[in-house]
Amino acid sequence: MVKVQTDDECTKTRTDRAVASTLFGTSYPRGEFRFHDGLTRLLLLLGMLAVTSALADESAIKLKDGDGRALVEANCVMCHSLDYIPMNSVFLDRKGWEASVNKMIKAMGAPVPERDVSTVVDYLTRNYGKP
Ligand code: HEC
Repeated sequence: MVKVQTDDECTKTRTDRAVASTLFGTSYPRGEFRFHDGLTRLLLLLGMLAVTSALADESAIKLKDGDGRALVEANCVMCHSLDYIPMNSVFLDRKGWEASVNKMIKAMGAPVPERDVSTVVDYLTRNYGKP
């Protein structure tokens, strides 16, 4: 049986080619697919995306300026991103931050020196406290 290609199928094939050549920067004149070339480009592309998002993260975690910021940055970043702080600012008032910082120290083992705890809590409440 002879399969008749409809207009629709023609268009689709052309679109797929166009997408492939956009992605891989290669045109496939006789329908051959240069797999290795395309794969290498794709991996490079993914690598670049990973680097870009890592850089984006870096700038996303700039904490607000203020007394105690250096302490927070020094004590709160070794286990997780500083993003956790702004992310929780909608939930935590002074009591909440106090509890959270104590949990980080007691349960997680954050090495915040005793004398710095109140500065850290003050900073978090002032800059990231629940309104
Ligand atoms: C020793 C590792 C460690 C350090 C240092 C640390 N944390 Fe955490 N933190 C964790 C872990 C692990 C979690 C996830 C806990 C969970 O899922 O319950 C977490 C979660 C959080 C959360 C999310 C809410 C919660 O309670 O789970 C906030 C907010 C937070 N940390 C703030 C801080 C602040 C502020 C500091 C600095 C005073 C800090 N962390 C230092 C380990 C740490």
